[in-house]
Amino acid sequence: MRLSRSRAQRIALLLAVPVLIAVVACSAPQTTLEPASNTTESVDGVYRFIFWLAGAVFVIILGIVLVFSIVFRERPGREAKQFHGNTRLEIVWTLIPVLIVVAMAVPTFSVIVDTTGDPPEGSLVIEATGRQWWFEFEYPEYGITTANELHVPVGRSISVNLFSEDVIHSFWSPRLFGKVDMVPGHGNNLFFTPNADAARAEPYLGQCAEFCGTSHANMRFRVFVDTQEDFEVWVAAQQADAVTDAAVAAGAEVYATSACIGCHTLQGVSSGVIGPNLTHIGGRSTIASGLMDNTDANLRRWISDPPEAKPGAKMPAFEGLLSERQIGDLAAYLLSLK
Ligand code: CUA
Repeated sequence: MRLSRSRAQRIALLLAVPVLIAVVACSAPQTTLEPASNTTESVDGVYRFIFWLAGAVFVIILGIVLVFSIVFRERPGREAKQFHGNTRLEIVWTLIPVLIVVAMAVPTFSVIVDTTGDPPEGSLVIEATGRQWWFEFEYPEYGITTANELHVPVGRSISVNLFSEDVIHSFWSPRLFGKVDMVPGHGNNLFFTPNADAARAEPYLGQCAEFCGTSHANMRFRVFVDTQEDFEVWVAAQQADAVTDAAVAAGAEVYATSACIGCHTLQGVSSGVIGPNLTHIGGRSTIASGLMDNTDANLRRWISDPPEAKPGAKMPAFEGLLSERQIGDLAAYLLSLK
């Protein structure tokens, strides 16, 4: 049989879809198929159960269709059999789907009840606020304010209160917790406990999952699941004032005398609330809400022209306002703030 070109293309396209899904699922760091917390693990359990149940339904139905179309087909001297009106059969094939729906509903509702409502007693509370286009994180228990990079200890329940300062955002780190909206004027909550083996140096990636304007796609965050000791070290570092050494005094001077102080907080230096808290920005792995690695070159690029690096960014370009040398000094100073 010779296939027409368009038909061959359609078949190739059909085959490409599962291949593409398999490639994406196996290589994506933001996969829901490798849960790293109790919350995502229970959701994954429901997903797998329904997947195999649906697979069984698919195979059984197709098998029956295949068998019937062979056994009852038209043959020489015999017409294809037709069936009409069999009450008992109709009751059976109505009841079976009802049972299947019930079988799916029971674990689904049980997980919904387990993963919503009040967070467990003794949870570490984090307040997360979505802004166009970055995230602010506060730890009331420790008096820490940071941005775009969360640190959480392994094994402890984490309760995140979600807010928004402008439009609706959605908070999602697929391996740790599901999407929950950040709604202006309405607090939401999610909670999760990182698995005992989830601690690692590499962060778990997350991002805004609700279209929120120009740089929605650039609104990312990272969750570092630390061992208890590493978490305590991080907390102590965040609580301390940033240490400034003489080597970056020129940059400190630029910071303290330019427009930076109007928008940013830097503990002991400035207290702006429009942009991210910069007190320990040198200790973060990325800048611009996960968009770029936190390097000298990227910091200079960012300070020079934020909207060029991240369309719609609210921070104005300092190219022209500050000399190249001042921008370099500023970048060196920020990087030193571990
Ligand atoms: Cu914030 Cu999309």
